[in-house]
Amino acid sequence: MPFLTDNNRMWRDKARDVAEKVVRPLARKYDELQEYPWEIKDALAEAGFFGVWIPKEYGGAGGTVLDLCLVIEQLSRACGGVGVMYCVNALGSFPILVGGTEEQKKKWLPKIASGEKLIAFCLSEKYAGSDAQSLRLEARPDGKTWLLNGEKKWTTNGGAADLYSVFAVTDPASKSRRISAFLVEKGAPGFTVGKVEDKMGIRCVPVVETVFKDVRVDASQLLGGEPGMGFHHAMGTLDLARPGVAAQGLGLAQGALEFAMVYAARRQQFGAPINSFQMTQQSLADMATQIEAARQLVYASSTALEKKLPGAGKMAAMAKLFATDTAMKATTDAVQIFGGYGYMKDYPIEKYMRDAKITQIYEGTNQIQKVVIARSLLR
Ligand code: CAA
Repeated sequence: MPFLTDNNRMWRDKARDVAEKVVRPLARKYDELQEYPWEIKDALAEAGFFGVWIPKEYGGAGGTVLDLCLVIEQLSRACGGVGVMYCVNALGSFPILVGGTEEQKKKWLPKIASGEKLIAFCLSEKYAGSDAQSLRLEARPDGKTWLLNGEKKWTTNGGAADLYSVFAVTDPASKSRRISAFLVEKGAPGFTVGKVEDKMGIRCVPVVETVFKDVRVDASQLLGGEPGMGFHHAMGTLDLARPGVAAQGLGLAQGALEFAMVYAARRQQFGAPINSFQMTQQSLADMATQIEAARQLVYASSTALEKKLPGAGKMAAMAKLFATDTAMKATTDAVQIFGGYGYMKDYPIEKYMRDAKITQIYEGTNQIQKVVIARSLLR
């Protein structure tokens, strides 16, 4: 990658090192256990990865969105679950960066940057997935405090996280100022974890329902200090976070291609390695080309977001759409190259395909990415 800066390369190489030494050897264990990999989290904190996207004045490394994507790509190349276990902290903390008060930034960001506090993002609900504005969890004013009641669905990092960015209805009658975000701490009375999902992939990171029953929060926990800005904060967050999911897809696709190359060189059929057959070569060439195109989109969109260039949100949606579709295709094609062995758990490749599927669904389904892209084109 000729245009990467020295700093970009530093993050990429450091992440690759941790991915190879710590993540890859443990990926299978935590996939089987379906448990949060605290030992991996500690290694990521030790390497300073939780501070990459946080400005220096709040205790972070002051890295760019591209730096974050490079770390996610390398971690996901070794384990898609670890990729999201890490990057969901960026998703959870972007609302603070996008809309938090100075006091909220100073209070929380240094602890997130050091890895002392994990954070989750609570937007989706049972009846509010793609239609994020239709959420129902309510926050009623009660004197100088707010009372939260309702449930959230698909809270990634739920249970493990110490802090939750929670989107709630504060003005049901309003159309554009209906929603506000609150910062809720683990252990707040009335705040509990409900159903823990049993998942196809990304099994090392918990995805749960979160339940809020008369959870009282102080006015200082209202994000930005002013109600009604929640949907804007959510949309601004998703714009920033989309290249990260795209980078997760990119890493998964790259990791799958590398396994397929090794297998295709070793596997003998008809008296020759299967990589000598043109159909295998075509498959590898298609995978490599799509991965390279995805990489360019991920890197370019994260740089466009960083520089706040016009059309950056559209590019982020394009990157998420293309890189995660590439992840699904490349991991499926890699399983095909492994043949019957690829379908079995003895080999690592089937996990890539399982981990890839969710990247087409979360942080805005790929259909929603097309809505975002088309609206931007037609505006
Ligand atoms: N930035 C800032 N504000 C924005 C914005 C953006 N990118 N996009 C829209 N807005 C604003 C609009 O300007 C508008 O404001 P006004 O009312 O003041 O004019 C307001 O938000 C409403 O905009 P729309 O009418 O366009 O909203 P919509 O209801 O049509 O929805 C949508 C648009 C793009 C479909 C949106 O609902 C969406 O992104 N849906 C997908 C939600 C999603 O990604 N969920 C995943 C959650 S995270 C996750 O997956 C979990 C995990 O843990 C990994």
